Amino acid sequence: MNQLDLVVISKNKSFIERCRTLCADFDFQYAYFGSSEDFFERSEHAPTIKCFILDCTKFENIHEAAGTIQVARQMMDSSYIITILNSKVDPEGMELLKKSGANLIMLDNEFTTNSKLEFVASQVIKSAFIPVKVADLIPESRINGHLYMLMPVNRKFLKIYKPGSKIDNAFIAKYTEAKELYTHRNDLSAWVEYVQKYQAKDDNAGARNCRANFLKLQQAFLELVILISDQTVSTSFAAGKELFALCEKFCADLLVSLKDVTAPWEAVNNSSVGDFGSVERGTAVAAYAGMLAEQISPEVAPKAMMGGLLADIGLILVSPEVSRKIRTGNLSQLTGEERMEYVKHPIYGLNQILSKRIPLDDLIKDMILMSHERIDQKGFPNKPAAIKMKEEPMIIRLAQELDDALTIKLGKERIDFDNTFKSFLSGKLNEGDGYPLIMLLKLNPLIRRTGNASESSHS
Ligand SMILES: [Fe+2]
Repeated sequence: MNQLDLVVISKNKSFIERCRTLCADFDFQYAYFGSSEDFFERSEHAPTIKCFILDCTKFENIHEAAGTIQVARQMMDSSYIITILNSKVDPEGMELLKKSGANLIMLDNEFTTNSKLEFVASQVIKSAFIPVKVADLIPESRINGHLYMLMPVNRKFLKIYKPGSKIDNAFIAKYTEAKELYTHRNDLSAWVEYVQKYQAKDDNAGARNCRANFLKLQQAFLELVILISDQTVSTSFAAGKELFALCEKFCADLLVSLKDVTAPWEAVNNSSVGDFGSVERGTAVAAYAGMLAEQISPEVAPKAMMGGLLADIGLILVSPEVSRKIRTGNLSQLTGEERMEYVKHPIYGLNQILSKRIPLDDLIKDMILMSHERIDQKGFPNKPAAIKMKEEPMIIRLAQELDDALTIKLGKERIDFDNTFKSFLSGKLNEGDGYPLIMLLKLNPLIRRTGNASESSHS
């Protein structure tokens, strides 16, 4: 049986081509079917599909769409189902589609012209299985979700733990060498609950807590991004406020737990998911921004985390081609028009957040809008005079650049964390790089700190 990451059901050539290119870029296993009947007859594919896209633009009415989604949902209980519509639906119609099993509803123009699909697909496919550390397992405990092991030979996930069974020393010993096991994204809350419930007071407690908080934030952030970028219907403003508040809370929890570990920078580096230059780095950037702010201007650390989290939301609204060039590090290949689109992403992002009536503090607005500005005015989009530049928004740019330096790129050699971290900061101090010197000088203690990479990377 073929393992499929993404399946699209459509007759529309541009939708099929869009999915095919995306899957080629991300190295996802992909298939398309001309109709849902064709697909339903080949149901042997269903259990492995992580992302299922159903084009409903040619359907007669919302009930036909709902019926097809229901059948699909019965065949694929853990897949992420995206439904494409060609017109807005009223909140009741939306509710019906969601109840039938759709995870996300997109409009056809949104599907082909912006980069939301890249964001969602990379989240739900790449992070369909989320790594958890064997060292985070606690003897004599029980988890309410499944655990999986990645088989190195065929890269398949093998179920090795059933919810509710006892984890004993023998189980832990069996997988210690593997270091990492996996939980399905649908079981993530069970994992977080587990870590919080047992609260083992061992040497690993701090790092374990950090990782759980990081995952919680990642999950809430995914939902927030989907809500903020939603163009199908006027989403409930209350839901947006609620999710924003949840992200604020999870950021605060993460910051507290990071203060509890001896190697917080490494803990973030080890927990992060997603490619650089993409929105999904938001959680890692948020954590770095919070920790940098602790050195530069501690009172703004919680806001810096929210600024870091949201700064690149505008990238969802750029075209697939622009986001592709960003993701592959080919900014120099942007055409004039594409570059214009790219430099506006901080503005797009801020406007989109405000359009959902999410209450943003002025400083967080500045952090989003000025996340690419520099005091030498070589930044974008507005190039304010140095005198008008506040220090805090520049924390976001620094956090993003640090994240870029520290991220292990696919196909590149693993970097030495401590050396890269220190040479990044001393490089900034030597060159200035569009930052005020007084801000960079506050980072000196980080350059002199003694790294303890072993604590979190090998625990
Ligand atoms: Fe950005």
